[in-house]
Amino acid sequence: MTKKILVTSALPYANGSIHLGHLVEYIQTDIWVRFQKMQGHTVHYVCADDTHGTPIMLRAQKEGITPEVLIDAVHKEHSADFKEFLVEFDNYYSTNAPENRELSQTIYRKLKANGKIATKTIEQFYDPVKNMFLPDRFIKGECPKCHAKDQYGDNCEVCGATYNPTELINAYSAVSGAAPVRKETEHYFFKLSECEQFLKDWTRSGTLQGEAANKMGEWFENGLNDWDISRDAPYFGFEIPDAPGKYFYVWLDAPIGYMASFKKLCETKGLDFDEYWKHDSTTELYHFIGKDILYFHALFWPATLEYSGYRKPTQIFAHGFLTVNGEKMSKSRGTFITARSYLDHIKNPEYLRYYYAAKLNSTMEDIDLNLEDFVARVNSDLVGKYINIASRCAGFITKRFDGELLPLAGSNFTATEFALLEELTKPSEEIAEYYQTRDYSKAVREIMRLADLVNEYVANEKPWEIAKDTSQDGKLHMVCSASLRMFSVLTVYLNPILPNLAGRVAKDLLGSNTEFNWNMVENFPIKKINLYQHFITRIDPKQIESMTEANTENLTTIPTAAPILDSSDAPETKNEAEYISIDDFTKVDLRIAKIVNAEHVEGAEKLLKLTLDIGEATPRQVFAGIKSAYDPETLKGRLTVMVVNLAPRKMKFGMSEGMVLAASDARGGPFILSPDVGADAGMRVK
Ligand code: MSP
Ligand code: ZN
Repeated sequence: MTKKILVTSALPYANGSIHLGHLVEYIQTDIWVRFQKMQGHTVHYVCADDTHGTPIMLRAQKEGITPEVLIDAVHKEHSADFKEFLVEFDNYYSTNAPENRELSQTIYRKLKANGKIATKTIEQFYDPVKNMFLPDRFIKGECPKCHAKDQYGDNCEVCGATYNPTELINAYSAVSGAAPVRKETEHYFFKLSECEQFLKDWTRSGTLQGEAANKMGEWFENGLNDWDISRDAPYFGFEIPDAPGKYFYVWLDAPIGYMASFKKLCETKGLDFDEYWKHDSTTELYHFIGKDILYFHALFWPATLEYSGYRKPTQIFAHGFLTVNGEKMSKSRGTFITARSYLDHIKNPEYLRYYYAAKLNSTMEDIDLNLEDFVARVNSDLVGKYINIASRCAGFITKRFDGELLPLAGSNFTATEFALLEELTKPSEEIAEYYQTRDYSKAVREIMRLADLVNEYVANEKPWEIAKDTSQDGKLHMVCSASLRMFSVLTVYLNPILPNLAGRVAKDLLGSNTEFNWNMVENFPIKKINLYQHFITRIDPKQIESMTEANTENLTTIPTAAPILDSSDAPETKNEAEYISIDDFTKVDLRIAKIVNAEHVEGAEKLLKLTLDIGEATPRQVFAGIKSAYDPETLKGRLTVMVVNLAPRKMKFGMSEGMVLAASDARGGPFILSPDVGADAGMRVK
């Protein structure tokens, strides 16, 4: 029976680039959607940028542009990234859209009519310089426990303590630096506390994974609090009807963005919006999300839908977080990798799709991208196992048999070939079930087991040997035809994961223009084998090195002094927490250094190796990220300023024993500093 299915991935924030962590989700969803489409179901896959809220408003201010200009630029960037990773949305929209405004207001009005909205006066931190209320994230100060400076309002990154922003010592606004004051304001609340019974019933209806249902249990035990859905102006978002100066909190209109994106799709494709969203809809609705946003999707969202008269999600699929080489993605280790940077260095997006598929299952466990394993796995599975079958057999068919494959029926296949073909098609339902249940790692394992069988067969038959004896042409034709038929089965299985490769194989090699469907496992419509071409290449471990190097935050030059939220209208009152003492400053041993040698570093994209004379017996070696701006020859003999007592740091290319100072920002750079005439190597800078 064919189904009507609407699928979503969480809406990425419009204030940052798509990175490999995000891609776990979009790739996971895309594979599932492609699989469902291959089953003949009607599937719509929608998403959008999540554009509202304080961080986006402030970032736009900082860049001197309107939020609309900012989110437009990000929308283009995100769309291009997704397209290149073959994440095929039917619509990729924005939450800052007329459909979303209208739906958000309608839903709010219905919630209000159903008695689910209340107002309450609360006290909040207020920035008296910026004239705005401050979310916790924008309040910083000294940790009340360990006295570390510049900690966020909710927890300390140094000692791990959690607390309220009120407990911070010398709190200051991260926007202006001013000391925040407490101020009363009226907020709108969604009465989640009244939705408990409904949510309990809904949780029991099989909509959540086991772990997620357990989490819900914990939340119920702690009791549900009413949800604060309003924010005061200035705020980038939608104004609340009949509440001037009050805006919907971004998390109210974000999930409604799923509906809005679909609504837009309905307009362009002539689909029936209500059929999918009415209270008693018989269509299916699935949300793919990360485990960090379960609360919003499993509590607020179904309650919002229920009390505004819409259908609830059929299921919510939460996945775990990405780690790289076993650790959280990190800028200093070079493992905070954007989608774009991956493409620049590794080029082929399907390698990542394959690796994630090989790791993903239906739980909320974190998944690890081990970069060494990634290279090994892609090279051995995709190049060594899968494509290898075609590269060993296709050439003979085109060169010796005019591209014709022997038909299955009436040919001289032996029992061996028939048995093996049967072995390949037999797990079709099992593999389909793995895709269906998001157990992609099991699907991949099974497909690779089959690829091993085919490779064994080819290795036993040795077509390259048979080919030497033209009297054995019949057998050569048979062996290669059988192998390519088996290869076509694997291609169908892999299509949800590797749509581009599978598509090229089908069209360019097997001569088929039919869109993939699951039944092609049994009978792939091979027309004619075309001249074998090179479909994929191995990953060179050097590509990984250059990728992590390019993403390693440059610690050899001082980072540009641009705190993310330092707004352009400069702070008038700086809090003490922003100053350092003279003692702090004198701890930094700055000296004039003479660049006695400068050279390129083999394999480094950004670094130059500098040898610096600081008036000591042995010169220092420093790797500086200034390659983009300087020809090493022109640096030799120049004086600059160096931090001498920075802890030495082991880099891939050797020890870096200090750091040279350079200036840079959006206008250009890096520009290394030079002392005035008369200064000489070894002089202290004070
Ligand atoms: N804007 C919200 C979602 C609103 S949905 C109505 C948001 N955006 S996000 O950009 O932070 O994350 C988008 C999705 O990517 C989320 O599902 C999130 O869990 C997922 N991931 C973000 N970083 C991730 C990893 N490092 N690993 C795996 N998934 C991650 O949340
Ligand atoms: Zn602390």
